Amino acid sequence: MKDLKKLTAGILAEKLEGLDAADIEKMIETPPDSTLGDYAFPCFRLAKMFRKAPQMIAQEIAEQLAGETAFHEVRNVNAYVNFFMNRAEAEADAVVDVLEKKDEFGRSDLGAGKTVIVEFSSPNIAKPFHIGHLRSTVIGNSINKIYDALGYDVVRINHLGDYGTQFGKMIVAYRKWGSEEDVRREPIKSLLSYYVRFHDEAEKDPSLEDEARATFARLEQGEKEETELWKWFREESLREFTYVYDLLGIEFDSYAGESFYSDKMDRVIDIMNEKGILQESQGAQIVDLSDYNMPPAIIRKKDGSTLYITRDIAAALYRKETYDFFKNIYVVASQQNLHFSQWFKVIELMGFDWSEQCVHVPFGMVSLESGTLSTRKGQVVFLLDVLNKSIERTREIIKEKNVPAEALEQTAKDVGVGAVVFNELSNNRIKDYVFSWDKVLNFDGETGPYVQYTHARASSVLRRTEEDVKALYEGSAVPDMALASSDAAYELMKAVRKFPKIVEEAGEKYEPSVITRHIIDVAQYFNKFYHDEHILVEDREERLARLAVTIAAKQTIKNGLALLGVAAPDRM
Ligand code: ARG
Repeated sequence: MKDLKKLTAGILAEKLEGLDAADIEKMIETPPDSTLGDYAFPCFRLAKMFRKAPQMIAQEIAEQLAGETAFHEVRNVNAYVNFFMNRAEAEADAVVDVLEKKDEFGRSDLGAGKTVIVEFSSPNIAKPFHIGHLRSTVIGNSINKIYDALGYDVVRINHLGDYGTQFGKMIVAYRKWGSEEDVRREPIKSLLSYYVRFHDEAEKDPSLEDEARATFARLEQGEKEETELWKWFREESLREFTYVYDLLGIEFDSYAGESFYSDKMDRVIDIMNEKGILQESQGAQIVDLSDYNMPPAIIRKKDGSTLYITRDIAAALYRKETYDFFKNIYVVASQQNLHFSQWFKVIELMGFDWSEQCVHVPFGMVSLESGTLSTRKGQVVFLLDVLNKSIERTREIIKEKNVPAEALEQTAKDVGVGAVVFNELSNNRIKDYVFSWDKVLNFDGETGPYVQYTHARASSVLRRTEEDVKALYEGSAVPDMALASSDAAYELMKAVRKFPKIVEEAGEKYEPSVITRHIIDVAQYFNKFYHDEHILVEDREERLARLAVTIAAKQTIKNGLALLGVAAPDRM
């Protein structure tokens, strides 16, 4: 697509002596509302240069550009020149791009040849995958899709919490009170219950703690029995997590979790010693960070064991060497801000200039509207229960709509899961938010179901006139966009044009909500267009132009939803 701002700047540059197109482009503004045109050029700064009043300059420019075909109108308002682009040309440009690129519309090769790691989800083995984990999972999944669309090679890593002293406790507890059958049937719930029991019993009998420590030590030394049990816990938990990932349509390239780095710690410590940044403190080894206003990073405990932070440092080194990343992104809750600031600083002190390529993408917390999410088990809300409940409720809602019976299950799943994911990605990620069913499943609000429904509505229009649609795709019919240049059509097409830039912006900010909000806009513009204008009119030329607008809207919504990890059903 042509860059219309550049085009405008180029035309202006020909008329304005002493200013080049690049400078002019920087000065051009986007007016707050479309009654003031697509672009505005303020003339205040030209007054000195041309020794004239800014209003006068603006007026002269507007007069000089009156005949330019790139513009529908050039208007002078006070000290501004307002540009109204030639609608048909702008629309046709976008239509050609959409028809040609289809599902690829909005993608670019900005990041060609560069590798970006997106680490997300990263739940803890034998602990529930709760609604809090949902955030990392869906935000991270969307960020990886956005970077992929920008042409980067993306590596999706699930840094499983599968290591640490708690596994000593779990093994002890399992041996005392566990049942193999229960673990096979309900791995996480069973393992969690053993772990809870361990803590209760250890209050009465502190020797259990010693037993757990000794058991963890055996695990660390690779003793067969402990290692096998641990492996089994890991597999069973992963099986349960995978169930959620499948439902969400999420895949990973690597499940190298914390345990993967357990034999890669010595090197980290050697480098720290070489650089002289490791200090002894009460028997532990630490990196002092007081110069940076942070508490010390404890690298190795008194008993020789390493910590969460040590494993993160080892993991970063490994990733740099393995993938030579351009960016290494961590989608982890804002509660861990300090942890990430600490270890990013530590790797900088270790002499790794690529510490700057490590990015923590934090997010706020979800709380529950009281009573909305009932759980069978106390306080923890299991993600799987939330998704299943959403699917169930959606099935009830869409039963009354015109979904064919054989598509009911799939649609209930697409919409039910999509609603939860879309809701997660609607707000600025850093904001805390309250989970509410009414907001998630409202078909008329700014929700997933609303956007999906709009997509299905556009699909249904296109289904009714397959011949025309085919002709447009094949190029045997070229739409005259002047026949669809009403305000409603033009606003919609402007939002379509903007989509590739929106994808870039979302990537720069690590912010999927930029896309969510934009496709809500596209959906709203489309619905306005749909209400204001009859699409399937008798006149073929007019119909083709309006169908082209419909195709562009549908494709933009579909591609936007795909970047969020949300399906775009054709019928709802
Ligand atoms: N497993 C951790 C948790 O559930 C999150 C891991 C975040 N990633 C990291 N590289 N530290 O809290």
